[in-house]
Order: sequence, then C-alpha cells, then structure tokens
Amino acid sequence: GNLIFNGELITRSAVKIDVEDRGYQFGDGVYEVIRIYNGQLFASEMHLKRLFESAKFIRIKVPFTLEELKAKLEALIVKDGLTFGIVYMQLTRGASSRNHAFPTEEVEPVFIAYTKEMPYAGEVKPGVKALLTDDMRWLRCNIKSLNLLGNILAKQEAVEAGCAEAVLHRDGIVTEGSSSNVSIIVDGTLKTHPANNLILNGITRRVMLQLCQANGIPVVEEAFSIADMLAADEVLYTSTGVEVTPIVSIDGKIINDGQTGPITRQLQVYFREEIE
Ligand code: PDD
Repeated sequence: GNLIFNGELITRSAVKIDVEDRGYQFGDGVYEVIRIYNGQLFASEMHLKRLFESAKFIRIKVPFTLEELKAKLEALIVKDGLTFGIVYMQLTRGASSRNHAFPTEEVEPVFIAYTKEMPYAGEVKPGVKALLTDDMRWLRCNIKSLNLLGNILAKQEAVEAGCAEAVLHRDGIVTEGSSSNVSIIVDGTLKTHPANNLILNGITRRVMLQLCQANGIPVVEEAFSIADMLAADEVLYTSTGVEVTPIVSIDGKIINDGQTGPITRQLQVYFREEIE
C-alpha cells in the first residue's frame, strides 16, 4: 500500500518510524478517521478542523495547512484507487531521546496517513448489543488523542461479552461509546451528551444533529443517566465506522423489543441521503 509520510506519497515498506517516536513511547499525538464514499472524503472540513484543534490542544503544530492536507489525502485516494473505505491519519510530536517533557523546537512532528477499504452497507444497519462499563478515561476526552487505553479496554470487555460496543458512564451518567457517541430517543426527542470535555464531539454526531434540525426532530444536548437510557424508546450510536446504528440490548436489557426504532430508522435514511 501507499502512505503519506511527512508529506511525501511513498510505499508502506519505505516508511521508517523511530523507536523513540513519542507517539510510540507516550501516545503523544492525535489522529483522525475520515470515511470515503464513492472516492470522496465525507465531511472532510469538520474532520480536518478537528485534527487541527486536537493538535493545538496538545501543542503540536500541523506541518501543513488544512487545504494542503486535504489535497494530499485526495491524491492518496486516487493513487490507491479507493472507492469505499476510510483514511486513517496521525500526527505525533516526533522522535527524540526519551523524556516526558517536550523535545526542543527543531524536532519535527511525524505525520502518516493511509487508506483502508470498507464497504458501504447502505442504511440498513440492524441493532447491536452493548454493555455498560465505567468510563475510566482522563478528563480531556474532547481531544482525539492516540492515548486510547481506556477506550480499548472497554471495547475488549464488550467484544468478550459478545457485544458490539461498550457504553461508558461516569457515576451513572452516560458519556459516550468506547469509539462512538451514544444518543437516546424519549417521546420523540433525541437526547445526547453535550459536547464538553467528557466526550469526543463526533462528526457523525454533528451530522446527525444537523439532520435532526433540518427534519424537525427535537434535540436536547443534555447528559442522561443509565436509568434514562434503559427506559428510553430508542438508543443509538454513531461514528465514522458505524454511521447511525441502533443499540437494541444493553447488559441484556432489551430496548424497543430488540427492533430498530422509527426515529433511528429515519435518521439512517437521512444519513444515507447525505452520502449518496
Ligand atoms: N472513533 N467517541 C469516541 C471516543 C471515538 O473514538 C469516536 C470515533 C467517536 C465518533 O466520532 P466520529 O463520528 O467523528 O467518527 C466518538 C474513530 C472512528 C476511531 O477511533 O476509529
């Protein structure tokens, strides 16, 4: 495969990452995942802006402008001949003799991006099972950081229980999924955690909120409890990978008789219309 490595389009085998890269040693970096539908980046402005914001938050300077980066990604997609998939990119603080403190100014950040095929399943996403687990992450979850231990341990717990996703909570308040945002529908209103430091403000979440607005589905960005979620009419989760997908079972408790609810279904249709 091909990669963008520090701005150059090269083959994967030509990439050299230092063992003292701070991404490798400290998880000192940020990342993004953008979906590609029909050869086109989906919601690229929002994703790239978030990459710049995440980088700024941890004081890494992105070595390109947003426009330059977008052009490079587009060239990569063409080179790979990719129609449906994702592009993964990450930026680390670079390689330097191991020391927790930042390296000196002349150490350059290290950027990589590559694509992966991912078929487009259309809007028909059947409901999945989820489990509840403690949100044990740090308090800057709004940064799309490479530090994902709290997320991967939760996801693994879900997978080992035969579930697709782990729904995280802090003291009984639902925050988000291990790699997704979670929303509930109560009496026709969509409720989702506010975009503060306790969640990643997902791009799919934002697209969904715009679709609610455009189609007269009331929204409240307010935290909800586990009890609220288990009593909700519908539960759904969103991400670049799963788009809009219903959750129909949580810790074995069945939601909406195990069926995709009407509002979730509508949102899936609206989301498909955004893509096509
Ligand atoms: N994860 N919350 C968390 C913790 C996430 O990791 C993600 C995405 C989301 C949804 O964000 P978006 O809609 O912008 O994809 C929410 C990506 C896809 C990943 O880690 O692979």
